[in-house]
Amino acid sequence: MGVLGPLLLLVHLGMVLTGNGRPSQPRLRFSHAELVKNGRLLTLPLPAGDLHSLLVDEDGRRLYAAMKDNLLATSLDDITQGPRKIYWPASPDRIQECLMAGKDPETECANFLRVLQPYNHTHLYVCGTGAFNPRCAFIPTAVFFKGDRQAVSPGQTECGKGKCPYEPHQRTASAIIDGELYAGISSDFMGRDTAFFRSLGSRHVIRTEQYESTWLQDAQFVKVAAIPESDNPEDDKVYMFFTERAQEAEGGAGKVLYSRVARVCKNDIGGQRSLVNKWSTFQKARLVCSIPGEDGIQTHFDQLQDIFLLHGKDKMSPLIYGLFATTSNVLNGSAVCVYRMQDIIRTFKGRFSHKEGPQYKWAEFTGRVPYPRPGTCPSSTYGNHLSTRDYPDDVIFFSRTHPLMLEEVYPVGERPLLVRVGVPYKFTCLGVDRVEAVDGQYDVLFVGTDSGEVLKSIHVPREQPGGQEVILEQLQVFKGKSPISAMAMSKKRQWLFVGSSEGVAQLALFQCELYGQACAECCLARDPYCTWDGHACSPFVATARRRNARQVGDAGDPLMQCVRQGAGLRVETEERVMVVAEGNGTYLECLAKSQHASVTWYRDAGGNSHELYQVVPGEQLVTIDRGLLIRRAELSHSGVYHCQLEEHGFHWTAVIVKLGVVSPSSAGLPFQDALALGQRCAELSSRPYQDRGRKKGGDSGGQKQKNHGKGRGGGGGVGGVGGRGRKSRSKAHTPGPRLPRSA
Ligand SMILES: *[C@@H]1O[C@H](CO)[C@@H](O)[C@H](O)[C@H]1NC(C)=O
Ligand SMILES: *[C@@H]1O[C@H](CO)[C@@H](O)[C@H](O)[C@H]1NC(C)=O
Ligand SMILES: *[C@@H]1O[C@H](CO)[C@@H](O)[C@H](O)[C@H]1NC(C)=O
Repeated sequence: MGVLGPLLLLVHLGMVLTGNGRPSQPRLRFSHAELVKNGRLLTLPLPAGDLHSLLVDEDGRRLYAAMKDNLLATSLDDITQGPRKIYWPASPDRIQECLMAGKDPETECANFLRVLQPYNHTHLYVCGTGAFNPRCAFIPTAVFFKGDRQAVSPGQTECGKGKCPYEPHQRTASAIIDGELYAGISSDFMGRDTAFFRSLGSRHVIRTEQYESTWLQDAQFVKVAAIPESDNPEDDKVYMFFTERAQEAEGGAGKVLYSRVARVCKNDIGGQRSLVNKWSTFQKARLVCSIPGEDGIQTHFDQLQDIFLLHGKDKMSPLIYGLFATTSNVLNGSAVCVYRMQDIIRTFKGRFSHKEGPQYKWAEFTGRVPYPRPGTCPSSTYGNHLSTRDYPDDVIFFSRTHPLMLEEVYPVGERPLLVRVGVPYKFTCLGVDRVEAVDGQYDVLFVGTDSGEVLKSIHVPREQPGGQEVILEQLQVFKGKSPISAMAMSKKRQWLFVGSSEGVAQLALFQCELYGQACAECCLARDPYCTWDGHACSPFVATARRRNARQVGDAGDPLMQCVRQGAGLRVETEERVMVVAEGNGTYLECLAKSQHASVTWYRDAGGNSHELYQVVPGEQLVTIDRGLLIRRAELSHSGVYHCQLEEHGFHWTAVIVKLGVVSPSSAGLPFQDALALGQRCAELSSRPYQDRGRKKGGDSGGQKQKNHGKGRGGGGGVGGVGGRGRKSRSKAHTPGPRLPRSA
């Protein structure tokens, strides 16, 4: 039951969450080739680079990448411009030893860079696994200018024990805070001792209690961050986010994974008699991200994948975005949950968990909590303890034995913001951008997947609790679908950088002009970055007070904006003429760019009547996703077909196809002539859209016909770039390569 229960629930959830069709689908999809063609994506291939992390340096205009045996620096404006690598291999002796220990030469016995931190204006601090012999170094950023083939020599490095893991596959997280390195790593050769360290400064190295499963057990660290708690710097805390084997989980015997948030005081220097050079303020709590099923049982997403801290004006209360996956291998599920700092702090101020002895369960601690309350930072302002070494023994002892809080931290709204279940991928990385839109702020989520894609999503407030997720785009950033392993954003330049085993990619956060050339299309896109400026769908600039503005959150009717500004709701209709021989099959294509749109086919009643009636699918007429399929054309199939799209209550005609069915026995024209005439009409009308502007006069061309009906995905829909057929309005528009914006 233990396994089956949650699994069935997940299957059920999968149906609920993905089965209700279109709204849960990404609205638009772009393939790798389309992104490149549209100038939205730049790629820097780095095969076999094992890219681990990316670091954006806005002021220095550089992007750094930690790789295998190499540290990479490249331009933040265009990653393809002048990338430079510094070679930093493991020492030959260590590689030999590593091989002798039976480790893999490619995936283990090399220097996998795992710590990449800005140290000061001139130096980075970088550590690598060094073939199971971790080493660290201060790397002057100027070294990348000194020409090619720079290398880090062993003499420039220092011991990386307690800073960097031995094993490249173990998850690790670190941060440099006030010149000290805080690192969550596995600190021994066997990878058994996972610990949280502070090193590098002038203070003594300090860490979590060793081999103490109640503190940390097989922790996989995801994020380390300093978050102040009050105006008093003595109160500053450092938080870490990770997944571990939960000791308190019922019946799990240490096998069940939980996600955690933990914290220590920045001024913790350990205890005097006990917990010497160990954290004496370490506390942790469970980070819950789950969805309730019908029967009230929660389905948990317990494997923390990434954390993004979104800082607003108040640096004490960032929003904490967490990316989670289910621990089930059978059904993939991922979710994004958001936490408030105040909820985390409340949990740490709450009750402690307690375990009486090995045979007992974890339960609430009901005894007297010593003073000062364990977890409090020593402060000269508010107390008389100048350092953690001054704390009474009972405080230190309590800290040592009660690291776990009783209450769990729940996300905002007590449910995830975004859920994907039963899809062939998992979420791996997260970036969040707070965008000033026409009607206020939106947090736009960029979620990387293990299939090389990025989902761009917003959350639209709605009447019902929890609101509604809208996945605006699904972008295939990596051609080979390799898992996205790193993500970083340049807010200033509005680029998203993503890394995988294929290399680094640079993606524009938005490309408004691709939504279409009508106000309605721009508004339906609901992209907070974009707005209709009266002429085109263009980037919204918060300062330029535009009168013509639309509302993203106007979930009921995103089109009101177009109506209000009198822009009208007309969308171009593509017209096509097609001819088919009786008895042959044909296919009327109508691709909705938006997967949120539904397609309905109508047909002119014929004669003088302009009435339309809905096409009823039958044996001969089959409606499929991409259009209308006629298996064997009959003379009665001749007519005018209208492909009508509907999205958000807005209906428009995307395509009109005039279909002629000719038979060899048709009176008047001989059959071949009829066919020839029909083909010529079809050619004229099916000429690729862009060509019309360029080829003046144009010949009738002979080969165009073969494009018919199987054009590229992006076309055919609403005013699509590269669409075929005749448009009622013609304004050739091919987006050029996107120039880097910003200064
Ligand atoms: C940055 O740190 C390095 C290593 O400690 C040091 O050599 C360098 O002088 C520092 N630079 C500045 C500008 O402080
Ligand atoms: C789960 O996702 C992985 C990729 O992470 C994929 O290979 C696998 O087929 C998926 N399994 C299911 C059941 O969807
Ligand atoms: C009808 O189908 C036949 C056999 O597939 C083909 O040879 C012929 O060219 C088709 N006619 C038209 C008008 O498409």
